Amino acid sequence: MESKKCDAKSEAAKGLLSEYKDLIFRSKIIGIGTGTTISRVIEEFKRTGILRDKIVVPSSIDTALKLKNLEANVALPSVISKVDIYIDGADEIDVRGNMIKGGGGALLGEKILASNSDFNIIVVDESKVVNRLGGKPLPIEVVPWALSFVLNKIKNMGFKLSIRISNGGKMGPIVSDWGGIIVDIVMDRRSPDDLIMIQRALRNIPGIVEVGLFLNMADIAVIGLKSCGYRVMRFERIK
Ligand code: A5P
Repeated sequence: MESKKCDAKSEAAKGLLSEYKDLIFRSKIIGIGTGTTISRVIEEFKRTGILRDKIVVPSSIDTALKLKNLEANVALPSVISKVDIYIDGADEIDVRGNMIKGGGGALLGEKILASNSDFNIIVVDESKVVNRLGGKPLPIEVVPWALSFVLNKIKNMGFKLSIRISNGGKMGPIVSDWGGIIVDIVMDRRSPDDLIMIQRALRNIPGIVEVGLFLNMADIAVIGLKSCGYRVMRFERIK
């Protein structure tokens, strides 16, 4: 008999609602990430109406547009000083809750919200869970004016990189909602100590606005399974 197969992203989104409905219901201000998994989460929010009358803070213009018809109050991050919970996806997450994010180019907004939230819930399909981060490229956001200097410095650190280019549509580099150019660095799989050093070194380069390493930023992860259903991972986030 053929075993049942599910869309693991949708399973994660449904898992979020079954596991954390009360927490979402109790929260007043909710930050919402960006990406295809978050789109599934927003569909669940629509279906259940759970965001009705909440204040929601989008991490990108894309998410703001998707939240429009939700009977929630979409607020600009610039008028919010803290969010109760932040819900987002990830490109990779390890067993400590460290993540690579920015596959959708929204790493700056995402990191600002995740850093100003009491509780971070990550919603991913099982393919995103890894022992060591670095199988996927590490996105960074760079001030356009400084691009060549920054690329030169990163190459001198021994990394390969590429400026992210859109697949059709706009010609040239992908520019984020905040006006920075998205660059992807090939990092290869790294130990947690290496990740701390890489993050520090990159952040010390003038012209890099933000780095897509989200170290020690997840409180829990809801992981959707392609065999259907979900599991939950809990992390010790030191605040
Ligand atoms: C957006 O910039 C990213 O950080 C996303 O959260 C991440 O890329 C996960 O996206 P998907 O849910 O589309 O895989």
